[in-house]
Amino acid sequence: MVTLLQKSILLGLLLVIHLTTYALKLSVHDLKVEHLKSPLAIETPAPRFSWKLVSDEKNTLQSGYEIRVGQNRSSLLAGKDLVWNANVSGDQSVLVEYAGSPLQSKQIYYWQVRVKDNHGNRSAWSAPASFRMGIQANEWSAKWIKVAGKDSSARSPLFRKEFSLRKKVKSALVYATAKGLYEASLNGERVSDAYFAPGWTSYRHHLQYQVYDVTASVKSGANVLGVCLGDGWYKGRIGFAGQRNFYGDTRALLLQLEVEYTDGTKETIVTDESWTYAYGPILASDIYDGEIYDARMEIEGWNNIGFKQNDTWKAVETLDKGSEKLVAMSGPPVKKHERFKAIKIFKTPVGETVVDFGQNLVGWVMLKAQGPAGTKITLSHAEVLTKEGNFYTANLRSAKAQVSYVLKNGPEQFFEPHFTFQGFRYVRVEGFPGQLTPDDLTAVALYSDMETTGKFITSNSLINQLQHNIQWGQKGNFLDVPTDCPQRDERLGWTGDAQAFANTAAFNMDVMAFFTKWLKDLKADQLSDGRIPFVIPHVLGPNDAASAGWADVSTIIPWDMYVAYGDRRILETQYDSMKKWVDYISSVAKDDLWNSGFHFGDWLFYRPNDDNDGRAAVTDKYLIAQTFYAHSTQLLINAAQVLGKVDDATRYSALLEKIKAAFIKEYMTPSGRLVSSTQTAYVLALQFDMLPETLRQACADRLVANIRDYGTHLTTGFLGTPYLCHVLSRFGHDQVAYDLLMQESYPSWLYPVKMGATTIWERWDGIKPDGSFQTPDMNSYNHYAYGAIGDWMYRTIGGINSRADAPGYKSMVIAPRPGGKLTSATTELETAYGTVKTSWIMENAILKLHVTIPPNTRASIVLPDKTEEIGSGSYYFECPLLGNKHRSKER
Ligand code: BGC
Repeated sequence: MVTLLQKSILLGLLLVIHLTTYALKLSVHDLKVEHLKSPLAIETPAPRFSWKLVSDEKNTLQSGYEIRVGQNRSSLLAGKDLVWNANVSGDQSVLVEYAGSPLQSKQIYYWQVRVKDNHGNRSAWSAPASFRMGIQANEWSAKWIKVAGKDSSARSPLFRKEFSLRKKVKSALVYATAKGLYEASLNGERVSDAYFAPGWTSYRHHLQYQVYDVTASVKSGANVLGVCLGDGWYKGRIGFAGQRNFYGDTRALLLQLEVEYTDGTKETIVTDESWTYAYGPILASDIYDGEIYDARMEIEGWNNIGFKQNDTWKAVETLDKGSEKLVAMSGPPVKKHERFKAIKIFKTPVGETVVDFGQNLVGWVMLKAQGPAGTKITLSHAEVLTKEGNFYTANLRSAKAQVSYVLKNGPEQFFEPHFTFQGFRYVRVEGFPGQLTPDDLTAVALYSDMETTGKFITSNSLINQLQHNIQWGQKGNFLDVPTDCPQRDERLGWTGDAQAFANTAAFNMDVMAFFTKWLKDLKADQLSDGRIPFVIPHVLGPNDAASAGWADVSTIIPWDMYVAYGDRRILETQYDSMKKWVDYISSVAKDDLWNSGFHFGDWLFYRPNDDNDGRAAVTDKYLIAQTFYAHSTQLLINAAQVLGKVDDATRYSALLEKIKAAFIKEYMTPSGRLVSSTQTAYVLALQFDMLPETLRQACADRLVANIRDYGTHLTTGFLGTPYLCHVLSRFGHDQVAYDLLMQESYPSWLYPVKMGATTIWERWDGIKPDGSFQTPDMNSYNHYAYGAIGDWMYRTIGGINSRADAPGYKSMVIAPRPGGKLTSATTELETAYGTVKTSWIMENAILKLHVTIPPNTRASIVLPDKTEEIGSGSYYFECPLLGNKHRSKER
């Protein structure tokens, strides 16, 4: 006989087993706040929470979630003392907005989430994650400090402060920023592995502070804070006109260390008159020119305890607060990434010692050396060698790009720069004592610490190298701001380049936080009449603004980021800026035509040297401007619709019709020919739906005829290139798009690959077929703009497409379209919901496709012969490959 007690024990056991199986079937991981893992300085009062589901069942959708937030980790786990606890039905798992009691500045919060799904499974609570709120403006008690008198030395000052902590420390946080660049240390150790703090922003409007948790590094008793300052973007050389001191001529530091003891009392150490400074071994540092470091000037132990200051250490001066607003750092910090050893050390024909690292990268060389004190070693940087094999730096223009080290006495010394970065594959070494070996040098790539989200591999090694080059173009030019190039005396946030590349960038890496930070600068630097400067941060002339295809970055990137990451707030934040830009164009347009002002046009389009019969692909600049006027207006309408701004949507829709009508009247013949018979003209007119439906296909066919007329070559520049293959695919010409992609002769994407490129070049023919170079005035070998083809590769070869009506890959279209003799392709994208993967092979004209989509998403699988709707999980499809079909316009 089973007793009642036994029965209930059995039941209880069954329940436990049951619950364990449930928990195994569904779990939650990868918790993020505002797109970041455990951020230390959240500024918004309503941060947003995202998590990913893991499920071993197909067709899993979240049906509800419970989220809880508290100040104390153990209370959180016990479900006590919560500041927010919500139990919500529905499938939102990305960017759920905080709605608890007000969050307090500087406070750390812990949170966790558990979910249930449509199959009746419940997950366990996730492991807790944390976030910390930033510091308010009125909570800074630190004063700005600087060297005494005028800050006229090129040398880097070292600032120090010794202080004592008497009790047991619960937490210690450093809040710091600088005018210039800073490297902070505590007791002789860097406080973080980030570089180039405080980052580059539109300093006059806002300056970012960083937060470092130094709880593990503070000691009871004596401690020392030490900070070194460099010129950086603030005071160093910026822009190609040779200007210095653009933001100010005085480097300064603001730092606050907040200590909380275990007994609940607090102590704050701040920059003030009690700090001292001396000049250290960095004799000069400049982003373009490089750095000079004299090890003999090192001050041994200066930033550690036990150091005795002599009278070279002077009292600092304080500085009044400027007009800039201090804001929490919101983008990813710059960190060290890949390291490269020399693949070759050789003597060039002119007798120079040159090291080849095998990859054009951005960062610096770490050097080991030993020799007599005073020995000077100079490293010069270059991207390419001349056809004779000599070191070539003319394309760096006035950037010296040189780092020099002077040895001190003693054992082997280790060097690396601090406040400069260079774009290079080759390094020329002068003055090295003894025999240089690969062991003496390591090149290290530095760039913004973005998660890699995309993978793309095909059966064609040239295409794989192209993908590699695109990724390295991104790494090299995403060093805190999206730059045109990383090596010459430029390295600026060129807007046209950024808008061309943004979609590709969002496949390769998680760029949401990176662009959110930059768009704040864009908004801050937008001129009062709505014009958008050519570069952001704006460091060129006051009227260098408002070029078509460049200024339209203000509508394009917010929209692209919304579609890729499902972040509606980016549209809310940027909406006024988007609108001001479109209104600016309207204010200068005459009869709805934007046909005035300076424009870069289809920058770097194909142009033969000896152009007697007019083969240069020149597109009328005002025709281009009109298409971007329409595009920006369309994106503004899209944003208005998402944000529920019905009146604006109606008003700008009416405007858009007029813009298109004006385009047709001015630039199109009745039979649908455009005044500029170029690929870019056709591409822009088709991509932005400028033409009546009835004429579009004929126009696309004309585009194909034009491409064939150039021997199946592209002729597009910065503005036409990103859309060229998309337009071909949309109008049933996938095969032509593949022909262009596979083209190996100039101009084409694979031409530089065949010439040995390891990054994307600025020009289609940076190195000409005979090995000679394009003009040194403008010839970068690391310029991501033409890498914009990556978007087409992910979407057409990989087949992974987001949908604007279900952004962030909540719902997606999977539509791989094989071609170009590719026999296989594997593509992956880590979305906010988890990993999307497609992998196909072609066998006997049969497409064999594996697809995986993450929980809480759906996809339409579009195959040549059918369309299927799927929920999460892994699937296999087979179908014969039929002829090209038209592709719908997803974006
Ligand atoms: C930059 C470009 C930029 C252009 C403007 C150049 O100096 O390197 O990439 O977009 O100027 O046309």
